[in-house]
Amino acid sequence: MLKGVVLTGFMGAGKTSVGRALAKRLGLPWFDTDACIEKVAGKTITEIFAQEGEPAFREMEHRCLLELAPKMPAVVSTGGGIVMRPENWPALRALGPLVYLRAKPDTLYGRVRRHRHRPLLQTNDPRAAFDRLFAMRRPFYEQADLVLDTDELRPEEAAARLARMLENQPSDIE
Ligand code: S3P
Repeated sequence: MLKGVVLTGFMGAGKTSVGRALAKRLGLPWFDTDACIEKVAGKTITEIFAQEGEPAFREMEHRCLLELAPKMPAVVSTGGGIVMRPENWPALRALGPLVYLRAKPDTLYGRVRRHRHRPLLQTNDPRAAFDRLFAMRRPFYEQADLVLDTDELRPEEAAARLARMLENQPSDIE
């Protein structure tokens, strides 16, 4: 059986919705680093960014990630920026195969443009901020163990494909 599985990818990739659907399909618990951060901080991500700044958010994200190891096997959805901190990589990889939920920038932007809960896009030119971040992060996402293109997939379809891909992954626990 799998040790766990971690979903990564840019904002709008479907990490939360696919993660939830995959956990249900595999009969595993589901954890979400953003939800963990909000619970620990007792405030929303928007409030954390506004009141404490991004470095404080990244520190909380790192700590939430470290707390996940004893909770495996599980499906873990992460925030889109988690791949940018080098210390997060060993912790991510320790949880199980890392999956990049990939989609074209236009698809992603179409999914997130109307949302207000992503502080990094609350600028005068959100599309420029989006493109800059996407270009910076893409090489990091590409280092994942598995890649699934989600442009045309609903969350349940993506979860079904992923479940099949994961059947061929090496087992870590019996
Ligand atoms: C962030 C993505 C968000 C959240 C925070 C920062 C990022 O999560 O962690 O707003 O840096 O890309 P989603 O990827 O689930 O939107």
